Amino acid sequence: MSLKGKKIVLAVTGSIAAYKTPNLVRLLVKAGAEVQVLLTEAGARFVSPLALSTVSGKQVLQSVAEGDSWNNHVALGLWADAMVIAPCSANTLGKLANGLCDNIVCAVYLSARCPVFVAPAMDEDMWMHPSTRANVKRIQEYRNKLIPTEFGELASGLVGEGRMAEPENIFSLLTSYFTTAENKPLEGLKAMVTAGPTYERLDPVRFIGNFSTGRMGIAIAEALANAGAQVTLVTGPIERQPANHAINIIRVESADEMYEAGLVVAKESDIAVLAAAVADYKPAQQAPNKIKKADDELSLKLTRTKDLLAALGKIKEPWQTLIGFALETENEVENARKKLNGKNADMIVLNSLRDEGAGFGHDTNKITILKRDGSVVPLELQSKSDAAVAIVDHITQLRYAEKTV
Ligand code: CTP
Repeated sequence: MSLKGKKIVLAVTGSIAAYKTPNLVRLLVKAGAEVQVLLTEAGARFVSPLALSTVSGKQVLQSVAEGDSWNNHVALGLWADAMVIAPCSANTLGKLANGLCDNIVCAVYLSARCPVFVAPAMDEDMWMHPSTRANVKRIQEYRNKLIPTEFGELASGLVGEGRMAEPENIFSLLTSYFTTAENKPLEGLKAMVTAGPTYERLDPVRFIGNFSTGRMGIAIAEALANAGAQVTLVTGPIERQPANHAINIIRVESADEMYEAGLVVAKESDIAVLAAAVADYKPAQQAPNKIKKADDELSLKLTRTKDLLAALGKIKEPWQTLIGFALETENEVENARKKLNGKNADMIVLNSLRDEGAGFGHDTNKITILKRDGSVVPLELQSKSDAAVAIVDHITQLRYAEKTV
């Protein structure tokens, strides 16, 4: 497997397993990766910087400031495609779990926007200690990837759990990560998509609805599933079904039902895409029997529905990505930006009804993507499935730009 062009920061901390890291560097470099080694003071007692700089072909960085020069940890954190902390001592694990920053490894870790792999190494009793257990749990909650320890002989002479994974196993985990990341960048993530119209019942035979067909939402659900996400589609009344049977479907009818179901699913989801055309108003009262015609005029009293996108924006966790749609007929970009900020979304997909081939009922769509960094990306008129793939590419970029992936 090739790691050609991949940039990897390998952080070596104080554990006897550090003596195995030149082998890990050699495997990575042979596969084509560029490896920058970071070494803590304790790590340097177990493995020499000279050995590591020789196999990596790069100077090993041992502190944030060396002499009168400063090693730019922020730049390194941005440079890396992956950071691997191997071996990760109990002490470093504690620092990662608590955000401490007293060496180059912690500084780069806190600056890294790439996925971070942590390969702990310690004696079994240390590994089983409740504080270590809590630290392991916490770093996983921060979306770091734990490389499980292995069972075997330990430095103490005891035999048990706590050995650092063998360099060959760390290497194969990294290569399979990169293969998956390229083909299935959203593997392991949960996504919710809302789609279709909502029907607001007036009486047993009539409703207020809209012309949404759900095609755009279904296409997004399919594209997210193709990118590896586990998808739940919360949909209003639509005729089509997603072709991918792995997509879990929850059918609802009204805006209130969509709100209730969507809230539950989204709370557990890493990504929520709200593509449904939800009614903003519903009849204040639903007649129990068919409304009979009588006078020349009939007035309906409508009340506001609850806004799912706005509600999710209020409770959004840092690990969650929230995407809304905006269907506009005038001052499109300005109105979409108001929705982006007002509803605390990470991205808004704008449809303008003024664009030919865009909006309800067409197989094509012309969208513009707005993000919180201020970017506005207009896309060409394309099929809804191509537009969905483009939307998912933008979602993937957002996820990878965040430390929390
Ligand atoms: N939305 C929602 N729940 C609602 C209304 C809207 O989740 N009750 C979501 C839509 O799915 C879409 C976004 O909010 O992702 C924007 O919907 P839109 O109807 O275009 O905008 P509104 O915020 O309702 O504003 P306005 O109708 O004034 O344009």
